[in-house]
Amino acid sequence: MENKKIILTGDRPTGRLHLGHYVGSLKGRVELQNSGEYDNIFIEIADAQALTDNFNNVEKVKNNIVEVALDYLACGIDPNKSTIFIQSQIPELCELTFYYLNLVTLSRLQRNPTIKDELKLRGFENSIPVGFLTYPISQAADITLFDAEVIPVGDDQLPMIEQTREIVRSFNNLYKPILKEPKELLPDNDKCMRLPGLDGKNKMSKSLGNCIYLSDEPEVIEKKIMSMYTDPNHLKVEDPGNVKDNAVFIYLDAFCKDEHFEKYLPEYKNLDELKAHYERGGLGDVKIKRFLNSIIQEELKPIRERRKELESNIDKVYEILKNGSNKAKEYASNKIIEVRNAIGIDYFK
Ligand code: TRP
Repeated sequence: MENKKIILTGDRPTGRLHLGHYVGSLKGRVELQNSGEYDNIFIEIADAQALTDNFNNVEKVKNNIVEVALDYLACGIDPNKSTIFIQSQIPELCELTFYYLNLVTLSRLQRNPTIKDELKLRGFENSIPVGFLTYPISQAADITLFDAEVIPVGDDQLPMIEQTREIVRSFNNLYKPILKEPKELLPDNDKCMRLPGLDGKNKMSKSLGNCIYLSDEPEVIEKKIMSMYTDPNHLKVEDPGNVKDNAVFIYLDAFCKDEHFEKYLPEYKNLDELKAHYERGGLGDVKIKRFLNSIIQEELKPIRERRKELESNIDKVYEILKNGSNKAKEYASNKIIEVRNAIGIDYFK
């Protein structure tokens, strides 16, 4: 039999998904899903991981499970092709994490660059919650319990995949080689990896309030785009402008295709021509923002409409999550037996 591969990826349910998620991962996931090259695609809503820094705000995590699911479905994740499941509903993940804890040292966890940044950001440095520090180990369980080999993620997740590979090697050497080594799959356009926020300075992020959400209404999107950061030295239309650190042009790099010019800005053939004019001077910010607005509106309209449709039938969304979780649980319960057997703790065969 042809050896097809398994994909697993996930998100913490801490807020609605935005344009950064869309270009950085959702769009790619839908393409992977529809490519037919994968046997199984697991998409985890990582509520237990979200609790590691929201243990005192369970309501937020709970409410955002369905928001994230709505965003997935609206973007084209198809529950007949992909398995969307909720992490906490798979207790086998906790068991596997417990075995993995033995294979990782404290200093190894403390060296993880993503964890270091996150500890600082959350003010956890002087009093580190163990659950938070060890979430990379639990993430290794997320990946390996489902035999996933392809992990579509942003570059901030690379340390987690590396950690997972180390655990896999230790486990396979120590016990039996039953775990698969995963590999990350980064978005191919590097503009997409870290879409800046509307402020142009930081990555698009809910906590910084610089996002365009997939569920934003058209007027909101327009207002946000028209207020975007461009080049601070491009004061008058005649001034030469910089396209490099200019968020509007970075978004255009991520979204604009030649056919958009035909449709919305026929004076130019393509983005290179537009950029050249901006750099020369004589091209105003309002014009490029209007153009960007047309493109983003076109992209988000079908997503928003589909989301609204689904919102009117939330029971159906919960049904999808329940079915997905049952399917994931079935896979997990077989794999955990294999794990216990590999370790040698299957006493009552
Ligand atoms: N840590 C990921 C994030 O913050 C979410 C996540 C949890 C994940 N488990 C995963 C991603 C497994 C990929 C694979 O976005």
